[in-house]
Amino acid sequence: MEKTFSGKTVLLTAGPTYEAIDPVRFIGNHSTGKMGFALAECFAARGANVKLVAGPTNLKPTHTSIAVTPVTSADEMYAAVQKLASDADIWVFAAAVADYKPKAASLKKIKKSGDELTIELVKNVDIAAALGKLKKEHQFSVGFALETDNENTNAQEKLKKKNLDMIVLNSLNDPGAGFKHDTNKITIIEPETTTAFELKQKTEVAQDIVNLIWERTHA
Ligand code: CTP
Repeated sequence: MEKTFSGKTVLLTAGPTYEAIDPVRFIGNHSTGKMGFALAECFAARGANVKLVAGPTNLKPTHTSIAVTPVTSADEMYAAVQKLASDADIWVFAAAVADYKPKAASLKKIKKSGDELTIELVKNVDIAAALGKLKKEHQFSVGFALETDNENTNAQEKLKKKNLDMIVLNSLNDPGAGFKHDTNKITIIEPETTTAFELKQKTEVAQDIVNLIWERTHA
């Protein structure tokens, strides 16, 4: 049987978020968005209607069935996701959302003064977890996790906490995996199953993830 997603809508988050400190500075991370964009292309090539909510990145989608909503901060990403989630059959949270944001962004550029500067941070909304509370029976939710230790235990905890059906685990212990690489080595964790994959190009990793999502949602 051809493994298509025709008639299905996939909501994806991708890239980093930038949390403003003042008009010229932000807290961010090294996510490039490559993994999320590769997934978007892969789903679109298989016939899905893709809604891609992307943090700051230089990437542009090529497939015409990918609609991008560009956002900057975690709050903006959450607002965009809330609008799109209920109509989507599959949610994939591939964004590297900043866990904390400055309590209040300064409206004016912060001038240098003393030898130390303290910026108070507050927790950002956990987009995957907030959506997990609204997930319906027919919806399938996938998260990502980047761990350095106790990988499987932490991933199992995140599955529960965020009400995910699947977690794609990247280990920082694997050379060639994670940020700034074109390759990735993943393990897919589900409540009852763990599937390990070889180090591959991110485009091929995307195929593996999309294949397994297809198996779980169609087989
Ligand atoms: N995520 C999210 N919103 C956040 C933080 C994370 O939607 N504010 C999503 C990510 O897109 C990813 C998953 O949750 O799919 C795991 O994110 P991660 O940062 O690894 O996990 P945390 O729960 O933030 O735990 P920790 O940073 O303590 O490992």
